[in-house]
Amino acid sequence: MKYNELRTPSYIIQEGKLRENLETLHNVEEKAGCKILLAQKAFSMYKTYPLISKYLSGTTASGIYEARLSHEEFGENKENHVFEPAYKSNEMKVLADICSHIYFNSISQLECHRKIWEPKVSKGLVKIALRINPEFSTQEGHEIYDPCSTGSRLGIRKCNLPKTLPSGVTGLHFHTLCEQGLQPLIDTFRSVEDNFPEYLETVSWINLGGGHHITKKDYDVNGLIDFIKEIKAKWNLEVYLEPGEAIALDAGTLITTVLDIVDTEDMPTLILDASAACHMPDVIEMPYTPPLFGALEEESEESDESEESDVKPNEGKSGVKLYKVRLASRTCLAGDVIGIYCLPEVPSVGDILTFGDMAIYSMVKNNTFNGMALPDIVLEHDSDLEDRFEIVKQFDYLDFKMRLS
Ligand SMILES: Cc1ncc(COP(=O)(O)O)c(C=O)c1O
Repeated sequence: MKYNELRTPSYIIQEGKLRENLETLHNVEEKAGCKILLAQKAFSMYKTYPLISKYLSGTTASGIYEARLSHEEFGENKENHVFEPAYKSNEMKVLADICSHIYFNSISQLECHRKIWEPKVSKGLVKIALRINPEFSTQEGHEIYDPCSTGSRLGIRKCNLPKTLPSGVTGLHFHTLCEQGLQPLIDTFRSVEDNFPEYLETVSWINLGGGHHITKKDYDVNGLIDFIKEIKAKWNLEVYLEPGEAIALDAGTLITTVLDIVDTEDMPTLILDASAACHMPDVIEMPYTPPLFGALEEESEESDESEESDVKPNEGKSGVKLYKVRLASRTCLAGDVIGIYCLPEVPSVGDILTFGDMAIYSMVKNNTFNGMALPDIVLEHDSDLEDRFEIVKQFDYLDFKMRLS
């Protein structure tokens, strides 16, 4: 299929960029001697699992469905890790069969399911870890993504750990970062060294969680490699990382069509067939403004504060004329606004706009609120052939109806 034959809205996943990210991560695995897992919560486009599994050691799941998906699609000899704050017994029976590593969030959960996991551990089929809460926060502004914030239920605090780890536990896990560089990881690990040394001495492996922006341009990849080597040498531990974002960072777009233009008081508001609430929920939840291809930065503060209609162009960087527009959705939610952008011209009805970085936390979180159609899922191959764009999945009315009764 060619680009101009695609429908909107569509998520288009770029295989080339995905491969580039995977090469970076595989290089870390090889040079540091660690294992990297795909956190499926960020990206579970299983059509790409055969590609991802060529580069990474396995996956991590947030529960039984993701664990099953990995078991079915990621490859038999790969590791399948799972962490959930609490498991049901019927789920634990399945997880103990299909997972290689199971993480518990409390001593009570560990003991509650011991009869199910212990026989698997005895046979060497499963490894067990406890998630700890280092109570060491390194992020500001996104409290809902901070597992070390006050009142967090995620991870066992030092005060609630027994003096010696319960039998069967061979691993430790912490996840505290979100879109962060190397230094916050180092700082967090130093605090774990200070506060949990007796446990680091007794386990044989540690998972440093996700939130590492390893495939971002300015990430100190060599520093990470050195740091992991240091942990391994100092504590004699096998080291895991489980990033989600870093795997498919910048590896996807969302294309959308302008359906109408409404003349609101301050600027033209474009109504799109894509929705923040339905197709990119993090835009509202986080919140953030996703990159838009072709959008330009405003230069002066003056134009920021301008109360005049921005149908009149402002001066942008390098003297380019800019028009400010609001991109919004056709749902009934007043706040279903993707963002305000500066463009060299006001788009017309029928134009196609492209949002960037739409592979991660997009299709795993989308929904059909208001009866919105789900975007098609498209894989863009590297080739320049006619079939560069492969439609992986299309959704219709039944996908909406099926979830209701
Ligand atoms: C336990 C755990 N591991 C890994 C991740 C992946 O994080 P990221 O996508 O920011 O790398 C998350 C994200 O919430 C998480 O909760």
